[in-house]
Amino acid sequence: MRPLSLSTATLLSLLTFVANPVSGAATTAAIASANATLTGKRTTNMLGNIAGFGPLPSTAQTGGLNANDIQGDILIGMKKKKEVFYFFQINNPASFKKKLKIFIAPFITSTAQLLSTNTQPIVALNVAFSFTGLTALNVTDDLGDPLFTQGQFSQAAVLGDPGTGNWVSAFAGNGIHGAFLMASDDLLLVDAQEIVIEGVFGSDITKLYSLQGSIRPGAEAGHEPFGFLDGISQPAVTGFGTPLPGQLVVNPGVILVGESGDPITRPTWAKDGSFLAFRQLEQLVPEFSQFLVANAPTVPGLTAAQSADLLGARMVGRWKSGAPVDLNPLFDNPAMGANPQQNNNFTYQHDGFDLSSDQTHCPFDAHTRKTHPRADLFAPNNSIIRAGIPYGPEVTAAESASHTTQTERGLAFVSYQAQIGQGFQFLQNRWANNPGFIFNKNISRPGFDPIIGANAGQARFMMGFDPNNANSNLTMMSDFIISHGGVYLFSPSISAIKTVITA
Ligand code: HEM
Ligand SMILES: *[C@@H]1O[C@H](CO)[C@@H](O)[C@H](O)[C@H]1NC(C)=O
Ligand SMILES: *[C@@H]1O[C@H](CO)[C@@H](O)[C@H](O)[C@H]1NC(C)=O
Ligand SMILES: *[C@@H]1O[C@H](CO)[C@@H](O)[C@H](O)[C@H]1NC(C)=O
Ligand SMILES: *[C@@H]1O[C@H](CO)[C@@H](O)[C@H](O)[C@H]1NC(C)=O
Ligand SMILES: *[C@@H]1O[C@H](CO)[C@@H](O)[C@H](O)[C@H]1NC(C)=O
Repeated sequence: MRPLSLSTATLLSLLTFVANPVSGAATTAAIASANATLTGKRTTNMLGNIAGFGPLPSTAQTGGLNANDIQGDILIGMKKKKEVFYFFQINNPASFKKKLKIFIAPFITSTAQLLSTNTQPIVALNVAFSFTGLTALNVTDDLGDPLFTQGQFSQAAVLGDPGTGNWVSAFAGNGIHGAFLMASDDLLLVDAQEIVIEGVFGSDITKLYSLQGSIRPGAEAGHEPFGFLDGISQPAVTGFGTPLPGQLVVNPGVILVGESGDPITRPTWAKDGSFLAFRQLEQLVPEFSQFLVANAPTVPGLTAAQSADLLGARMVGRWKSGAPVDLNPLFDNPAMGANPQQNNNFTYQHDGFDLSSDQTHCPFDAHTRKTHPRADLFAPNNSIIRAGIPYGPEVTAAESASHTTQTERGLAFVSYQAQIGQGFQFLQNRWANNPGFIFNKNISRPGFDPIIGANAGQARFMMGFDPNNANSNLTMMSDFIISHGGVYLFSPSISAIKTVITA
């Protein structure tokens, strides 16, 4: 199945061999063999082929964009099977630059490379830097993004986190200088990439933290840990691929720095980079499932289990299959969920219904409506491309039975945008956490996004959870998502990595 000359067994013995019991460091020979495993040719597509997601653009459909220069994760989004986020500190900037330029930069994966199997690498490798990281590298031009400069740690309260007590210690502060993003279809291959990186840089970097993500198994592939298909609705960047029915088309400059539609003054070299907002969002899955059962609305004609599913769908805006609740108000429609021609073709507007009061189809507070209001508010400049991946183990029988999380799992959330304050942070702070949004003349405070809306750990509410009662008001005493913090990074163009970053 795996298109490599090395068998998994060989690779495994290689990986055990490199963990030198004395120094913990990989031997030169082990680094060379790990490197050799990364140079093979692919025969199968490394990106998850999930029903419900549209096709990748063909190599001819990249518009005016330089797909050879834009790092691969930015526009392709969340379709990889395995990914490791490797957060590091730079100890020796001069040596780091030299090695990055010679050994790593030639292997950074571009957008163009990912578009077809025969150009895909064994492991897709991207790199991004924090403000303190660029400063350490003497790259001090103002990138024109104040939130990038301040760092995510300073924004914990604005993001609605209940302090930073739950933050991963590496995220609490500005110590992270950068991250390598390594993605593949097999974790052993990602491990080989990590060995090469650590072998190349040695003591020039220190690993501060890493998080391993994985597509969920079997029929759950493509679904986030609560069980909902994720990654369906992404903005299309003008010229890059063919928009699907209902897909929002945005200027490239909404996602890519310095491209058309980016209103900010930037240094020339920053063009075709993008800001990466990373968040480690734990999901309390058994607690969430139990909440749905305990708080399901009473709807004529639905069983208790169907009502619980309905509540989940109304909180998310989609059924577990991905079918939009706006088009399927009472029952899931798996055929529609799996059909990219149909599963994004909705606006929340319906003939004969008043957009500013109708919640019979979809509540104003639904996660998808809060983060992309469609007919409620045309706001293409507040779009993000999501490229996250689930992390942590599947729910165990014991966790289900006790309705209690025992081992952390959730979403390694990644979004790309040209302005953090118009993208991720805007969506979280101004929309999801804001009970006054969606602004409309009939309901002044519809409530919080029940999935990601945060109120500093205090109780939240959601109006209209019952499709037959717009005044129904659901109280959520505690959160289903626990923020473990994150970082704001800049993912430069490949040419910038080869020049300004490594000068
Ligand atoms: C653990 C946390 C999260 C979970 C479980 C989650 C889950 C989902 C699901 C199931 C969808 C619907 C599928 C789709 O349209 O792709 C979705 C869509 C979306 N989410 Fe999230 N999400 C999370 C965090 C976030 C965050 C932090 C943001 C931004 C602040 C965000 C922004 C969006 C956007 C913009 C969409 C697309 C809406 C649309 O275009 O209709 N999500 N999310
Ligand atoms: C890995 O192999 C490639 C070619 O196969 C080579 O160009 C590169 O320098 C090697 N990297 C290291 C760290 O040895
Ligand atoms: C950064 O700039 C300072 C001051 O110009 C210089 O001393 C130092 O060597 C530079 N470091 C790197 C890694 O270029
Ligand atoms: C989006 O941003 C561009 C560039 O600043 C601006 O010209 C345009 O009017 C904005 N669009 C909307 C709908 O706000
Ligand atoms: C999208 O929805 C519109 C009506 O809202 C419909 O006319 C059109 O046929 C739909 N497109 C597809 C591909 O189903
Ligand atoms: C809904 O309940 C919350 C408390 O959970 C309250 O603050 C809010 O005012 C209520 N909304 C309405 C319209 O009753």
